Amino acid sequence: MLSLVVLISGGGSNLESLLVASEDALFPARVVAVGSDRDAEGFHHAERFNVPTFSVALSNFANRAEWGDSLLEQVEEWKPDLVILSGFMRLLPPHVVAALAPRLLNTHPAYLPEFPGAHAVRDALAAGVPESGASIIVVDDGVDTGPILAQERVPVVAEDTESTLHERIKIVERRLLVDTILDIANGHINLKEFA
Ligand code: GAR
Repeated sequence: MLSLVVLISGGGSNLESLLVASEDALFPARVVAVGSDRDAEGFHHAERFNVPTFSVALSNFANRAEWGDSLLEQVEEWKPDLVILSGFMRLLPPHVVAALAPRLLNTHPAYLPEFPGAHAVRDALAAGVPESGASIIVVDDGVDTGPILAQERVPVVAEDTESTLHERIKIVERRLLVDTILDIANGHINLKEFA
């Protein structure tokens, strides 16, 4: 059984999909804790499933390195097999990425390497592309540059706004995330290859 710590900053719909999947006795992973850099709206999903939460706000620390140390300490307390950045909207300091690699994954609302960064859906719409997508990657030192574990195209339609396109992308993203964790658990994906 894989243990997961999920880090969020927002509504946590990807987190919710993992919590729902974990209800199935045959699903080979369990969310053991949910963390955030703020009092995240998505914590209510964790509470509904009786999963503990923790929050480590950057503003409480003198610098990003110290914030990263504290976040890492909280994460490692749960001895997770995988740490999932699921809408976690802060860049982790390099020493935190190094400590968690290669068991640190990120979900991203674009077909990487297209549209990296914090505004992927807005950027895809602004570029006028006919399709965007969703990706699950292993986190490395760059911004959304790590090895791609799974990805899928999502068409852009004429009347799309940032929110309608993002919602359709997230439907795909949630399925990719659950499937990727299954693939890791059953050995179809070997994260040691990315160490
Ligand atoms: C997801 O689309 C995730 O890929 C994105 O934030 C959303 C969170 O949704 N993350 C990024 O853009 C990171 N660069 P959720 O809170 O409903 O799971």
